[in-house]
Amino acid sequence: MSSFIIEGTNELCGEVEISGSKNSALPILASTVLDGREYIIKNIPDIRDVRMMLDILKKLGCAVDYDCGVVRINTTNLNSYVVPELLVKEIRSSIILMGAMLGRMGKVEICYPGGCEIGLRPIDLHLKGLKKLGISINEKNGMLDCNANNMKGCDIHLDYPSVGATENIILAAVKCKGFTTIQNAAKEPEIVDLQNFLNLCGYRVNGAGTSTITIIGKKINDKTSLDYKIISDRIEAGTFLAVAAMAKSDLLIKNADRKHFNSVTSILEDAGCNLIEDNNELRIKCSRRIKAAEIIRTQPYPGFPTDMQAQIMAAFSIADGTTIIKETVFENRFKHVPELIKMGADIKIIGKAAVINGTEKLYGADVDAKDLRGGAGLVIAALAAEGKTKINNVYHIDRGYENFINKLCKLGVKIEKTSG
Ligand code: EPZ
Repeated sequence: MSSFIIEGTNELCGEVEISGSKNSALPILASTVLDGREYIIKNIPDIRDVRMMLDILKKLGCAVDYDCGVVRINTTNLNSYVVPELLVKEIRSSIILMGAMLGRMGKVEICYPGGCEIGLRPIDLHLKGLKKLGISINEKNGMLDCNANNMKGCDIHLDYPSVGATENIILAAVKCKGFTTIQNAAKEPEIVDLQNFLNLCGYRVNGAGTSTITIIGKKINDKTSLDYKIISDRIEAGTFLAVAAMAKSDLLIKNADRKHFNSVTSILEDAGCNLIEDNNELRIKCSRRIKAAEIIRTQPYPGFPTDMQAQIMAAFSIADGTTIIKETVFENRFKHVPELIKMGADIKIIGKAAVINGTEKLYGADVDAKDLRGGAGLVIAALAAEGKTKINNVYHIDRGYENFINKLCKLGVKIEKTSG
Protein backbone atom coordinates (compact mmCIF):
# COMPACT_ATOMS: atom_id res chain seq x y z
CA MET A 1 0.00 0.00 0.00
CA SER A 2 1.46 3.36 -0.99
CA SER A 3 1.96 6.32 1.32
CA PHE A 4 2.61 10.04 1.01
CA ILE A 5 5.43 11.67 2.96
CA ILE A 6 4.79 15.41 3.30
CA GLU A 7 7.06 17.97 4.92
CA GLY A 8 4.95 20.82 6.26
CA THR A 9 5.08 24.58 6.81
CA ASN A 10 6.28 25.62 3.35
CA GLU A 11 4.95 28.79 1.78
CA LEU A 12 3.10 27.76 -1.39
CA CYS A 13 2.53 29.77 -4.53
CA GLY A 14 1.60 29.26 -8.16
CA GLU A 15 -1.36 27.94 -10.10
CA VAL A 16 -3.30 24.71 -10.40
CA GLU A 17 -5.44 23.48 -13.31
CA ILE A 18 -8.62 21.79 -12.11
CA SER A 19 -9.43 18.50 -13.85
CA GLY A 20 -12.78 17.25 -15.11
CA SER A 21 -15.41 16.30 -12.57
CA LYS A 22 -15.27 12.69 -11.27
CA ASN A 23 -18.96 12.90 -10.35
CA SER A 24 -19.89 14.06 -13.84
CA ALA A 25 -17.62 11.63 -15.68
CA LEU A 26 -19.11 8.52 -14.02
CA PRO A 27 -22.82 9.08 -14.84
CA ILE A 28 -22.07 10.41 -18.33
CA LEU A 29 -19.84 7.43 -19.18
CA ALA A 30 -22.58 5.12 -17.85
CA SER A 31 -25.20 6.85 -20.01
CA THR A 32 -23.31 6.04 -23.23
CA VAL A 33 -24.83 2.53 -23.09
CA LEU A 34 -28.28 4.04 -23.73
CA ASP A 35 -27.73 4.07 -27.50
CA GLY A 36 -25.26 2.16 -29.64
CA ARG A 37 -23.13 4.88 -31.22
CA GLU A 38 -19.68 6.49 -30.88
CA TYR A 39 -19.12 9.13 -28.22
CA ILE A 40 -16.07 11.36 -27.78
CA ILE A 41 -16.09 12.68 -24.23
CA LYS A 42 -13.48 15.23 -23.19
CA ASN A 43 -12.05 16.47 -19.89
CA ILE A 44 -12.35 13.00 -18.32
CA PRO A 45 -9.97 12.82 -15.32
CA ASP A 46 -7.48 9.94 -15.21
CA ILE A 47 -8.47 8.56 -11.82
CA ARG A 48 -9.10 5.04 -10.49
CA ASP A 49 -12.91 5.33 -10.44
CA VAL A 50 -12.98 6.36 -14.11
CA ARG A 51 -10.63 3.51 -15.07
CA MET A 52 -12.94 1.09 -13.20
CA MET A 53 -16.03 2.39 -15.01
CA LEU A 54 -14.25 2.04 -18.37
CA ASP A 55 -13.30 -1.55 -17.44
CA ILE A 56 -16.95 -2.34 -16.75
CA LEU A 57 -18.02 -0.83 -20.09
CA LYS A 58 -15.36 -2.87 -21.90
CA LYS A 59 -16.59 -6.06 -20.17
CA LEU A 60 -20.10 -5.24 -21.42
CA GLY A 61 -18.78 -5.25 -25.01
CA CYS A 62 -18.07 -1.56 -25.59
CA ALA A 63 -15.01 -0.44 -27.54
CA VAL A 64 -13.11 2.01 -25.35
CA ASP A 65 -10.07 4.17 -26.03
CA TYR A 66 -8.83 6.65 -23.41
CA ASP A 67 -5.96 9.04 -24.00
CA CYS A 68 -5.04 12.48 -22.63
CA GLY A 69 -8.42 13.06 -20.97
CA VAL A 70 -10.44 12.04 -24.03
CA VAL A 71 -12.61 8.92 -23.94
CA ARG A 72 -13.64 7.54 -27.32
CA ILE A 73 -16.31 4.90 -26.65
CA ASN A 74 -18.44 2.95 -29.10
CA THR A 75 -21.34 1.15 -27.44
CA THR A 76 -22.78 -0.38 -30.62
CA ASN A 77 -21.67 -3.90 -29.69
CA LEU A 78 -22.95 -3.90 -26.11
CA ASN A 79 -23.44 -7.64 -25.59
CA SER A 80 -24.38 -8.23 -21.99
CA TYR A 81 -26.90 -7.06 -19.43
CA VAL A 82 -25.00 -8.59 -16.52
CA VAL A 83 -22.82 -6.01 -14.78
CA PRO A 84 -19.66 -7.71 -13.39
CA GLU A 85 -20.15 -8.16 -9.64
CA LEU A 86 -16.50 -7.74 -8.69
CA LEU A 87 -16.30 -4.39 -10.44
CA VAL A 88 -19.57 -3.14 -8.91
CA LYS A 89 -18.14 -3.90 -5.47
CA GLU A 90 -15.02 -1.93 -6.45
CA ILE A 91 -16.93 1.15 -7.57
CA ARG A 92 -20.36 1.53 -6.04
CA SER A 93 -21.31 4.42 -8.32
CA SER A 94 -21.59 1.84 -11.13
CA ILE A 95 -25.14 1.35 -9.79
CA ILE A 96 -26.14 4.17 -12.14
CA LEU A 97 -25.59 1.69 -14.98
CA MET A 98 -28.96 0.20 -13.96
CA GLY A 99 -31.02 2.97 -15.52
CA ALA A 100 -28.98 3.14 -18.70
CA MET A 101 -28.90 -0.66 -19.18
CA LEU A 102 -32.68 -0.86 -18.64
CA GLY A 103 -33.13 1.86 -21.25
CA ARG A 104 -30.99 0.01 -23.79
CA MET A 105 -31.42 -3.71 -23.07
CA GLY A 106 -34.76 -3.67 -21.25
CA LYS A 107 -33.13 -5.63 -18.49
CA VAL A 108 -30.10 -5.63 -16.19
CA GLU A 109 -28.54 -7.92 -13.63
CA ILE A 110 -26.42 -6.12 -11.05
CA CYS A 111 -25.40 -6.81 -7.49
CA TYR A 112 -26.17 -4.58 -4.56
CA PRO A 113 -23.22 -2.20 -4.32
CA GLY A 114 -21.69 -2.56 -0.88
CA GLY A 115 -21.65 0.21 1.66
CA CYS A 116 -18.35 2.01 1.81
CA GLU A 117 -16.10 3.84 4.22
CA ILE A 118 -18.52 6.73 4.70
CA GLY A 119 -21.77 4.93 5.25
CA LEU A 120 -24.24 2.17 4.39
CA ARG A 121 -25.10 3.86 1.09
CA PRO A 122 -28.52 2.18 0.60
CA ILE A 123 -30.19 2.30 -2.83
CA ASP A 124 -33.83 2.14 -1.68
CA LEU A 125 -34.62 5.49 -3.37
CA HIS A 126 -33.17 4.23 -6.68
CA LEU A 127 -35.26 1.04 -6.52
CA LYS A 128 -38.44 2.84 -5.42
CA GLY A 129 -38.20 5.26 -8.33
CA LEU A 130 -37.40 2.55 -10.89
CA LYS A 131 -40.31 0.39 -9.65
CA LYS A 132 -42.62 3.43 -9.97
CA LEU A 133 -41.60 3.55 -13.67
CA GLY A 134 -42.89 -0.03 -13.99
CA ILE A 135 -39.57 -1.86 -13.74
CA SER A 136 -39.80 -5.28 -12.06
CA ILE A 137 -36.92 -5.91 -9.67
CA ASN A 138 -36.26 -9.34 -8.15
CA GLU A 139 -33.75 -9.27 -5.33
CA LYS A 140 -32.04 -12.62 -4.60
CA ASN A 141 -28.74 -13.33 -2.81
CA GLY A 142 -27.63 -9.75 -3.16
CA MET A 143 -28.37 -9.67 -6.89
CA LEU A 144 -30.92 -7.40 -8.56
CA ASP A 145 -32.59 -8.93 -11.60
CA CYS A 146 -34.50 -6.11 -13.32
CA ASN A 147 -36.89 -6.08 -16.27
CA ALA A 148 -38.29 -3.04 -18.03
CA ASN A 149 -40.98 -4.78 -20.07
CA ASN A 150 -43.71 -2.31 -19.24
CA MET A 151 -42.03 0.95 -18.35
CA LYS A 152 -44.22 4.04 -18.43
CA GLY A 153 -43.51 7.65 -17.51
CA CYS A 154 -44.96 8.84 -14.18
CA ASP A 155 -44.57 11.30 -11.31
CA ILE A 156 -41.85 10.34 -8.84
CA HIS A 157 -41.19 12.09 -5.54
CA LEU A 158 -37.82 11.41 -3.92
CA ASP A 159 -37.90 11.24 -0.11
CA TYR A 160 -34.37 12.70 -0.18
CA PRO A 161 -32.62 14.58 -3.03
CA SER A 162 -30.30 11.65 -3.74
CA VAL A 163 -27.78 12.37 -6.52
CA GLY A 164 -27.50 8.75 -7.65
CA ALA A 165 -31.22 8.05 -7.47
CA THR A 166 -31.94 11.20 -9.52
CA GLU A 167 -29.41 10.09 -12.16
CA ASN A 168 -30.64 6.49 -12.29
CA ILE A 169 -34.27 7.52 -12.73
CA ILE A 170 -33.38 10.02 -15.47
CA LEU A 171 -31.40 7.33 -17.34
CA ALA A 172 -34.27 4.86 -17.12
CA ALA A 173 -36.94 7.42 -18.04
CA VAL A 174 -35.38 9.03 -21.15
CA LYS A 175 -36.39 6.09 -23.34
CA CYS A 176 -39.63 5.01 -21.71
CA LYS A 177 -42.87 6.18 -23.28
CA GLY A 178 -44.70 9.04 -21.65
CA PHE A 179 -43.82 11.91 -19.37
CA THR A 180 -41.83 11.58 -16.14
CA THR A 181 -41.34 14.18 -13.43
CA ILE A 182 -38.92 13.84 -10.55
CA GLN A 183 -39.87 15.98 -7.53
CA ASN A 184 -37.30 16.76 -4.82
CA ALA A 185 -34.57 15.89 -7.32
CA ALA A 186 -30.90 16.49 -6.52
CA LYS A 187 -29.73 19.88 -7.87
CA GLU A 188 -25.99 19.25 -8.16
CA PRO A 189 -24.11 20.71 -11.18
CA GLU A 190 -23.29 17.15 -12.22
CA ILE A 191 -27.02 16.52 -12.79
CA VAL A 192 -27.12 19.57 -15.09
CA ASP A 193 -24.06 18.22 -16.94
CA LEU A 194 -25.82 14.86 -17.39
CA GLN A 195 -28.95 16.63 -18.68
CA ASN A 196 -26.88 18.63 -21.18
CA PHE A 197 -25.18 15.46 -22.40
CA LEU A 198 -28.47 13.57 -22.77
CA ASN A 199 -30.10 16.46 -24.65
CA LEU A 200 -27.09 16.57 -26.99
CA CYS A 201 -27.82 12.88 -27.62
CA GLY A 202 -31.34 13.88 -28.68
CA TYR A 203 -33.27 13.22 -25.46
CA ARG A 204 -35.58 15.70 -23.77
CA VAL A 205 -34.67 16.36 -20.15
CA ASN A 206 -35.49 19.68 -18.46
CA GLY A 207 -35.21 21.27 -15.04
CA ALA A 208 -31.86 19.83 -13.90
CA GLY A 209 -30.40 22.16 -11.29
CA THR A 210 -33.87 22.66 -9.81
CA SER A 211 -35.83 20.28 -7.59
CA THR A 212 -38.22 19.34 -10.41
CA ILE A 213 -36.91 17.51 -13.45
CA THR A 214 -39.12 16.54 -16.39
CA ILE A 215 -38.35 13.89 -19.00
CA ILE A 216 -40.25 13.19 -22.23
CA GLY A 217 -39.35 9.63 -23.16
CA LYS A 218 -38.31 9.00 -26.75
CA LYS A 219 -36.53 6.50 -28.96
CA ILE A 220 -33.49 7.75 -30.86
CA ASN A 221 -32.25 6.32 -34.15
CA ASP A 222 -29.47 8.81 -34.75
CA LYS A 223 -26.15 6.94 -34.82
CA THR A 224 -23.83 9.83 -35.61
CA SER A 225 -20.76 10.27 -33.42
CA LEU A 226 -21.17 12.70 -30.51
CA ASP A 227 -18.62 15.03 -28.96
CA TYR A 228 -19.01 16.41 -25.39
CA LYS A 229 -16.81 18.09 -22.74
CA ILE A 230 -17.71 17.55 -19.08
CA ILE A 231 -17.55 20.27 -16.38
CA SER A 232 -14.59 20.77 -14.06
CA ASP A 233 -14.43 19.21 -10.61
CA ARG A 234 -15.89 21.59 -8.01
CA ILE A 235 -14.66 19.40 -5.14
CA GLU A 236 -11.10 19.40 -6.44
CA ALA A 237 -11.35 23.19 -6.76
CA GLY A 238 -12.62 23.44 -3.18
CA THR A 239 -9.82 21.12 -2.03
CA PHE A 240 -7.18 23.49 -3.44
CA LEU A 241 -8.93 26.47 -1.82
CA ALA A 242 -8.52 24.65 1.49
CA VAL A 243 -4.84 24.03 0.58
CA ALA A 244 -4.36 27.79 0.18
CA ALA A 245 -6.14 28.56 3.47
CA MET A 246 -4.11 25.96 5.36
CA ALA A 247 -0.76 27.07 3.96
CA LYS A 248 -1.56 30.82 4.19
CA SER A 249 -0.74 31.08 0.50
CA ASP A 250 -1.62 32.92 -2.67
CA LEU A 251 -2.81 30.46 -5.34
CA LEU A 252 -4.46 30.72 -8.73
CA ILE A 253 -7.14 28.09 -9.38
CA LYS A 254 -7.71 27.63 -13.14
CA ASN A 255 -10.55 25.94 -15.08
CA ALA A 256 -12.90 26.13 -12.09
CA ASP A 257 -16.47 27.36 -12.26
CA ARG A 258 -16.88 29.35 -9.04
CA LYS A 259 -20.69 29.30 -9.14
CA HIS A 260 -20.45 25.53 -8.51
CA PHE A 261 -18.79 26.03 -5.12
CA ASN A 262 -20.06 29.37 -3.77
CA SER A 263 -20.86 27.68 -0.45
CA VAL A 264 -17.14 26.95 -0.03
CA THR A 265 -15.84 30.36 -1.16
CA SER A 266 -18.25 32.23 1.12
CA ILE A 267 -17.03 30.29 4.18
CA LEU A 268 -13.40 31.02 3.32
CA GLU A 269 -14.12 34.71 2.64
CA ASP A 270 -15.87 34.97 6.02
CA ALA A 271 -12.77 33.34 7.55
CA GLY A 272 -10.59 36.12 6.16
CA CYS A 273 -9.37 34.75 2.80
CA ASN A 274 -9.34 37.14 -0.12
CA LEU A 275 -10.83 35.74 -3.36
CA ILE A 276 -10.54 37.51 -6.72
CA GLU A 277 -12.32 36.11 -9.75
CA ASP A 278 -11.19 36.70 -13.35
CA ASN A 279 -12.96 34.71 -16.10
CA ASN A 280 -12.69 31.07 -15.10
CA GLU A 281 -9.70 31.76 -12.88
CA LEU A 282 -10.01 32.24 -9.15
CA ARG A 283 -7.21 33.75 -7.10
CA ILE A 284 -7.18 33.02 -3.37
CA LYS A 285 -4.92 34.91 -0.96
CA CYS A 286 -4.78 33.84 2.68
CA SER A 287 -1.99 35.82 4.31
CA ARG A 288 -2.85 35.13 7.94
CA ARG A 289 -4.46 32.59 10.27
CA ILE A 290 -8.11 32.13 9.31
CA LYS A 291 -10.91 32.97 11.72
CA ALA A 292 -13.14 30.12 12.91
CA ALA A 293 -16.56 29.68 11.28
CA GLU A 294 -19.25 29.37 13.93
CA ILE A 295 -21.10 26.46 12.34
CA ILE A 296 -20.85 24.64 8.98
CA ARG A 297 -23.57 22.18 7.98
CA THR A 298 -23.09 19.78 5.06
CA GLN A 299 -26.22 19.71 2.91
CA PRO A 300 -27.41 18.74 -0.56
CA TYR A 301 -26.46 21.27 -3.26
CA PRO A 302 -26.36 24.27 -3.16
CA GLY A 303 -25.55 23.80 0.53
CA PHE A 304 -22.01 23.15 1.76
CA PRO A 305 -20.90 19.89 0.09
CA THR A 306 -20.31 16.83 2.27
CA ASP A 307 -17.42 16.03 -0.10
CA MET A 308 -15.63 19.12 1.24
CA GLN A 309 -16.22 18.40 4.95
CA ALA A 310 -12.89 16.72 5.73
CA GLN A 311 -10.87 19.27 3.79
CA ILE A 312 -12.47 22.28 5.48
CA MET A 313 -12.16 20.57 8.88
CA ALA A 314 -8.41 20.26 8.33
CA ALA A 315 -8.15 23.93 7.40
CA PHE A 316 -10.19 25.06 10.43
CA SER A 317 -8.22 22.83 12.82
CA ILE A 318 -5.68 25.72 13.04
CA ALA A 319 -8.22 28.55 12.80
CA ASP A 320 -8.53 31.23 15.47
CA GLY A 321 -11.53 30.10 17.51
CA THR A 322 -14.00 27.22 17.59
CA THR A 323 -15.81 25.83 14.55
CA ILE A 324 -18.68 23.33 14.64
CA ILE A 325 -19.15 21.11 11.60
CA LYS A 326 -22.40 19.16 11.30
CA GLU A 327 -22.32 16.22 8.86
CA THR A 328 -25.96 15.82 7.87
CA VAL A 329 -25.55 13.75 4.65
CA PHE A 330 -23.57 10.62 5.55
CA GLU A 331 -23.65 8.76 8.84
CA ASN A 332 -20.00 7.78 9.05
CA ARG A 333 -17.93 10.56 7.56
CA PHE A 334 -15.73 11.58 10.52
CA LYS A 335 -13.09 8.84 10.16
CA HIS A 336 -10.43 11.47 9.51
CA VAL A 337 -10.99 13.00 12.98
CA PRO A 338 -8.86 10.54 15.01
CA GLU A 339 -6.11 10.95 12.39
CA LEU A 340 -6.22 14.76 12.69
CA ILE A 341 -6.09 14.40 16.48
CA LYS A 342 -2.86 12.37 16.09
CA MET A 343 -1.46 15.52 14.42
CA GLY A 344 -2.41 17.69 17.41
CA ALA A 345 -5.86 18.87 16.35
CA ASP A 346 -8.36 19.52 19.15
CA ILE A 347 -11.60 17.98 17.85
CA LYS A 348 -14.49 16.35 19.71
CA ILE A 349 -17.30 14.45 18.02
CA ILE A 350 -20.73 14.94 19.57
CA GLY A 351 -23.30 12.94 17.60
CA LYS A 352 -23.35 14.23 14.02
CA ALA A 353 -21.26 17.27 14.94
CA ALA A 354 -17.53 17.81 15.27
CA VAL A 355 -16.36 20.64 17.55
CA ILE A 356 -13.01 21.95 16.33
CA ASN A 357 -11.05 24.17 18.75
CA GLY A 358 -8.45 25.79 16.52
CA THR A 359 -4.87 25.22 17.70
CA GLU A 360 -1.81 27.29 16.87
CA LYS A 361 -0.17 24.45 14.98
CA LEU A 362 -0.24 20.78 14.02
CA TYR A 363 2.61 18.27 14.18
CA GLY A 364 3.74 15.69 11.64
CA ALA A 365 2.54 12.14 12.44
CA ASP A 366 1.96 8.71 10.94
CA VAL A 367 -1.71 8.70 9.89
CA ASP A 368 -4.06 6.56 7.77
CA ALA A 369 -6.38 7.69 4.99
CA LYS A 370 -9.74 5.97 5.53
CA ASP A 371 -11.64 7.31 2.51
CA LEU A 372 -11.18 9.56 -0.52
CA ARG A 373 -12.00 12.99 0.93
CA GLY A 374 -10.71 12.17 4.41
CA GLY A 375 -7.38 11.36 2.78
CA ALA A 376 -7.39 14.73 1.01
CA GLY A 377 -8.11 16.35 4.38
CA LEU A 378 -5.01 14.70 5.88
CA VAL A 379 -2.88 16.01 2.99
CA ILE A 380 -4.16 19.51 3.75
CA ALA A 381 -3.42 19.14 7.46
CA ALA A 382 0.11 17.91 6.68
CA LEU A 383 0.87 21.10 4.71
CA ALA A 384 0.87 23.21 7.88
CA ALA A 385 2.14 20.55 10.29
CA GLU A 386 5.57 20.95 11.83
CA GLY A 387 7.84 18.16 10.57
CA LYS A 388 7.01 15.21 8.37
CA THR A 389 3.65 13.47 8.02
CA LYS A 390 3.26 9.97 6.60
CA ILE A 391 -0.20 9.31 5.14
CA ASN A 392 -0.86 5.60 4.52
CA ASN A 393 -3.42 3.95 2.19
CA VAL A 394 -3.30 6.78 -0.34
CA TYR A 395 -5.03 4.53 -2.89
CA HIS A 396 -8.18 6.12 -1.48
CA ILE A 397 -6.97 9.50 -2.76
CA ASP A 398 -6.04 8.08 -6.18
CA ARG A 399 -9.76 7.33 -6.68
CA GLY A 400 -10.69 10.97 -7.11
CA TYR A 401 -7.74 13.31 -7.64
CA GLU A 402 -5.92 13.36 -10.99
CA ASN A 403 -2.14 14.05 -10.84
CA PHE A 404 -2.54 15.11 -7.23
CA ILE A 405 1.15 14.84 -6.32
CA ASN A 406 2.31 16.73 -9.44
CA LYS A 407 -0.18 19.53 -8.80
CA LEU A 408 0.95 19.84 -5.17
CA CYS A 409 4.68 19.74 -6.10
CA LYS A 410 4.14 22.53 -8.64
CA LEU A 411 2.79 24.70 -5.79
CA GLY A 412 5.92 24.03 -3.72
CA VAL A 413 4.67 21.20 -1.50
CA LYS A 414 7.44 18.84 -0.38
CA ILE A 415 5.69 15.52 -1.04
CA GLU A 416 6.83 12.10 -2.18
CA LYS A 417 5.00 8.80 -2.71
CA THR A 418 6.45 5.64 -1.21
CA SER A 419 5.20 2.11 -1.88
CA GLY A 420 4.82 -0.56 0.76
C1 EPZ B 1 -22.95 11.18 -4.85
O1 EPZ B 1 -23.07 9.95 -4.15
C2 EPZ B 1 -21.46 11.42 -4.99
N1 EPZ B 1 -20.85 10.36 -5.78
C3 EPZ B 1 -20.81 11.48 -3.61
O2 EPZ B 1 -19.43 11.79 -3.81
C4 EPZ B 1 -21.46 12.61 -2.81
O3 EPZ B 1 -20.92 12.63 -1.51
C5 EPZ B 1 -22.97 12.37 -2.75
O4 EPZ B 1 -23.52 12.25 -4.08
C6 EPZ B 1 -23.69 13.51 -2.04
O5 EPZ B 1 -23.44 14.71 -2.69
C7 EPZ B 1 -20.98 10.38 -7.13
O6 EPZ B 1 -21.62 11.24 -7.69
C8 EPZ B 1 -20.30 9.29 -7.87
P1 EPZ B 1 -26.68 10.35 -2.51
P2 EPZ B 1 -24.53 9.24 -4.01
O7 EPZ B 1 -27.48 9.30 -3.14
O8 EPZ B 1 -25.31 9.46 -5.25
C9 EPZ B 1 -28.79 8.43 1.25
C10 EPZ B 1 -17.12 11.61 -3.49
O9 EPZ B 1 -16.38 11.73 -2.51
N2 EPZ B 1 -29.46 7.56 0.27
O10 EPZ B 1 -26.99 11.79 -2.80
O11 EPZ B 1 -24.32 7.86 -3.54
C11 EPZ B 1 -27.31 8.10 1.36
O12 EPZ B 1 -27.10 7.03 2.26
C12 EPZ B 1 -18.43 10.86 -3.36
O13 EPZ B 1 -16.89 12.08 -4.64
C13 EPZ B 1 -30.49 6.71 0.73
O14 EPZ B 1 -30.81 6.68 1.91
O15 EPZ B 1 -25.15 10.13 -2.83
C14 EPZ B 1 -26.73 9.39 1.87
O16 EPZ B 1 -26.92 9.46 3.27
C15 EPZ B 1 -18.66 10.36 -1.94
N3 EPZ B 1 -31.10 5.91 -0.18
C16 EPZ B 1 -27.60 10.47 1.19
O17 EPZ B 1 -28.79 9.79 0.78
C17 EPZ B 1 -30.76 5.92 -1.51
O18 EPZ B 1 -31.39 5.17 -2.29
C18 EPZ B 1 -26.94 11.10 -0.02
O19 EPZ B 1 -26.66 10.09 -0.93
C19 EPZ B 1 -29.73 6.78 -1.94
C20 EPZ B 1 -29.09 7.60 -1.03
